[in-house]
Amino acid sequence: MCGIVGYIGQNDTKEVLLNGLEKLEYRGYDSAGIATLNEEGISLTKVKGRIAALRERVDSSIQATMGIGHTRWATHGVPSITNAHPHQSASGRFTLVHNGVIENYKDLKKEYLQDVSFVSDTDTEVVVQLIDKLYQKHQDTVEAFRETMRLLKGSYAIGLIDVEDHETLYVSKNKSPLLVGLGDGFNLVASDAMATLKETDQYLEIFDKEIVLVNRNFVEVQTLEGSVVERKAYTAEIDASDTEKGTYAHYMLKEIDEQPIVMRNIIKNYQNENNELKLDADIRSAMKAADRIYIIAAGTSYHAGLVGKELIEKLANIPVEVHVASEFSYNTPLLSEKPLFVFISQSGETADSRAVLVKIKEMGHPALTITNVPGSTLSREADHTLHLYAGPEIAVASTKAYTAQIAVLAILAVDTANVKGIQLDFDPLQELAIVATAMETLTGQKEEIEQLARDYFETTRNAFFIGRSGDYNVSLEAALKLKEISYIQAEGFAGGELKHGTIALIEEGTPVIALATQENVNYSIRSNVQEVVARGANAMIISMKGLEEDDDSFVVPHVNELLTPLVSVIPMQLLAYYAALHRGCDVDKPRNLAKSVTVE
Ligand code: G6P
Repeated sequence: MCGIVGYIGQNDTKEVLLNGLEKLEYRGYDSAGIATLNEEGISLTKVKGRIAALRERVDSSIQATMGIGHTRWATHGVPSITNAHPHQSASGRFTLVHNGVIENYKDLKKEYLQDVSFVSDTDTEVVVQLIDKLYQKHQDTVEAFRETMRLLKGSYAIGLIDVEDHETLYVSKNKSPLLVGLGDGFNLVASDAMATLKETDQYLEIFDKEIVLVNRNFVEVQTLEGSVVERKAYTAEIDASDTEKGTYAHYMLKEIDEQPIVMRNIIKNYQNENNELKLDADIRSAMKAADRIYIIAAGTSYHAGLVGKELIEKLANIPVEVHVASEFSYNTPLLSEKPLFVFISQSGETADSRAVLVKIKEMGHPALTITNVPGSTLSREADHTLHLYAGPEIAVASTKAYTAQIAVLAILAVDTANVKGIQLDFDPLQELAIVATAMETLTGQKEEIEQLARDYFETTRNAFFIGRSGDYNVSLEAALKLKEISYIQAEGFAGGELKHGTIALIEEGTPVIALATQENVNYSIRSNVQEVVARGANAMIISMKGLEEDDDSFVVPHVNELLTPLVSVIPMQLLAYYAALHRGCDVDKPRNLAKSVTVE
């Protein structure tokens, strides 16, 4: 969701900005723009649509030593060139990019900017006009910037250029992600390190409500009150080659195929030299001390949390509640005496999850974040972090992060059981190794799954996924995958719940995909399939070796029953992929969706 790149250095500004924006495309956007500054002033180019179109539109002869770029995911105002960033103040002096939502933009407009005529519908334009207005009062850009940041309510990551100052990029943030990248003779600003890995692996964190003055040779971090803050750089541990698509047509397919490697990475990183589980002592103490665990997450991570609940309750014997982050903030349930909050987030930046983290920290509760991005906001602000080791996930539809989250939750559950002295007949590292091999078999069966996608999804406008017990959790994720990228209306249901309403939607030919990997409900789910077939459904059963029947459409290899979501989800991911592909959808960048949802 909205991406920012800023650069100050040598003459290659335009290329650095465009390359950076290409790397941020995965976050989701609908328009884009860049502004560069040279002796002739600001040069501004904006498009509705993709970075490729922006690249074509940008004047190739431009030489500039500083600039800012932006991908916009529309919140206030439709996607259009006028609403795309960068935005400029009416005088033309200030040019600005923004990620986030300014909650009090109407009040600010009324109080300070009645005499200014606005060109866009965005909350962002208020910020740049306000900076200009306050500049007229202070005659000092830092002061005007500082006062504006003090007045803003809401979330923001901001990059600002003053046309009269060729030496400084003005930067600030609150709740939305932004980093400073450090180079030799140049410095950068980016929403995430992936945008600028080609240029540097040295980064400086920016904390909420700080102001950063970025010069080509130095960076100064200040508080909103103006005191200078010393901060050490850190090295971003992302391999730039991990973010390339290689020979794959889509990142999503590459990431589906990477799942066996991710399982093995997790095994390697969570095991010590004696092949025992390796977790920080303070995480162990936090898990042991908890009388109830509250999992907080959104989207696919929420679905991984549902599987995690089952793992932790069955293996570690601790009650677990799983909550959608955006609901928890405003409708907080009664909490137990010693709660532990577990945040699951691929990106570590989801604004809704962060809002809960801020709230529960204020209440004094401990928090553990399970994330793919260790330096992310949710990781920094929680007490503990467990890393997913999945490598960058670029496709908007999450695949390898989901299975990595479940694998790490299984390790956490077993480790906690060990710490609590619960005897288990379950070696997670061995079981995950079996899962990795099963995943490899499945990713080698693409042709079969592609054919099923053709048979079931080529023309349908809706589809239902059903399952019971652990399979129900996966059916929710399967439906989400399909709807996200193929735009087929898809829902996941508990098999037993069908009769209580949903069965009314079954018509001749409606696709119903049933998961049957759980022994204790194998008979019941198959009965549910009979009920929909009797009403005309085009049903497909995906079962597990050992539980299969002759006419099942697809059989996944046998793995431990607690870990079946890790394998049954793979045909679901591939079904969604091929359905989207054959329907001509933009698989990696589905309409309206963002990878990193940094606004509430
Ligand atoms: C967005 C993405 C989903 C993701 C969700 C939560 O909606 O499109 O793929 O599951 O955010 O993101 P997180 O980074 O917190 O896991």
